[in-house]
Amino acid sequence: MEHSTGEKAITKSNFGNNFKWGVSVSAYQIEGAYDADEKHLSIWDVFTNRKGYKGHNGNIACDFYNNYRNDLLLLKSLNVPNFRFSLSWPRIFSTTGSYNTKGIDYYNRLIDCCLEYGIEPWVTLYHWDLPHYLEEKGGWTNRDIVGRFEAYTEFCARLFGDRIKHWMVLNEPLVFTGAGYYMGVHAPGKRGLINFLPALHHAILCQAQGGRILKEICPNVEVGTTFSCSHVEPYRDIEKDRLAAQKVDVLLNRLFIEPALGLGYPFKEIKILQRIEKYMKPGDEKLMAFDFDFIGIQNYTREVVKYSLLTPYLHASIVTAEKRKAPVTRMNWEVYPQSLYHILKKYSAYEGVKKIYVTENGAAFEDVLNNDRIHDHQRRDFIKDCIHELYKAKNENAKVEGYFVWSFLDNLEWSEGFHPRFGLVYVDFETQSRIIKASGEWYRDFLSDKAFLY
Ligand code: GAL
Repeated sequence: MEHSTGEKAITKSNFGNNFKWGVSVSAYQIEGAYDADEKHLSIWDVFTNRKGYKGHNGNIACDFYNNYRNDLLLLKSLNVPNFRFSLSWPRIFSTTGSYNTKGIDYYNRLIDCCLEYGIEPWVTLYHWDLPHYLEEKGGWTNRDIVGRFEAYTEFCARLFGDRIKHWMVLNEPLVFTGAGYYMGVHAPGKRGLINFLPALHHAILCQAQGGRILKEICPNVEVGTTFSCSHVEPYRDIEKDRLAAQKVDVLLNRLFIEPALGLGYPFKEIKILQRIEKYMKPGDEKLMAFDFDFIGIQNYTREVVKYSLLTPYLHASIVTAEKRKAPVTRMNWEVYPQSLYHILKKYSAYEGVKKIYVTENGAAFEDVLNNDRIHDHQRRDFIKDCIHELYKAKNENAKVEGYFVWSFLDNLEWSEGFHPRFGLVYVDFETQSRIIKASGEWYRDFLSDKAFLY
């Protein structure tokens, strides 16, 4: 393909035939059917349905549980070859440890439908919807979670391992432990170091144990796990800001990957983390590590950081994009596609990282419905710019071999509700109708070799 100027265009084929292109979703954000077919409540069901909660809930969401066949047909029409979704633990396992056949049947049907349509299913074991009955026992703060997670993983591997060839153990452990157990803004709404540190340590143990169990049971599948990550820069070119940025970088980008790679916790940079040792048992250091086939990185923006005496533990604070008068998305995140380039370079530099997939990347912008069309050019351009950054990094030997857009459908953006829309496909949550946005059409054309990047 050529530009009108005669210049060579960058197309899908520039990324190689084995490069994986896809889209991502998660169970709680799209499935709905929150109490159907004997499903148990998750911490998110309880969090969003509690008395006085002013936000939206996932009781119906995109009703994907009932619509999945039509939605997968739509995905096929977009020519997307890989579909990343998560399993809902409380749909599969009951309180007593026995399983729910109806929930299992649903995932069997979903997986079989993907395969029937020629779409490769990629599964995340845990995308934040912990069974509420486990939260009642302390959830991620109780070490008992490790055994529970091992049993869940083993069960899923035996059930679906014949057809699922790509697995991810956890989705963004920093977010579900940080927002859910330190800041209290996500389910289950707990706060403080006293909850965060044990949750963090147990998530790290589950991350590695999950990987080990999947590999033991299904030696031929690809096993990874996913991390949220943002490029971090100092606000001013002064020593204090540089140190502050380094600490935030540890927290956002290094805290979960380094123990997995066998490098231990980054205690040196953030002294307070040392308190984790209280929750560690002999042998844990070794148990925290696992040789993943791939690392999923999920990137949306960058963070600019300055020294702040008042912030406890870190002495660092984020200088918001709004304050810096930088362009933002509907989430108030800075529009900064270059972040993906830096993150890919950073993670590729770890010797232990063999392969990277960008398992989430995308943006929420206001969508305006105009004669049944959505001209979401900002989202389309953001995605194009990010893929371009990825291309640059790949050309400089970053180990990246796949890219998944967040998200296929507009969905429930956790405590932000339904307003931030990330989809390539618009969802009318009243009627459950779907409209492919301009960004979705571009991605379809790009994947069909009918549109180029630049
Ligand atoms: C990620 C998360 C997704 C989605 C996305 C957009 O942190 O894994 O579930 O919500 O952010 O905010």
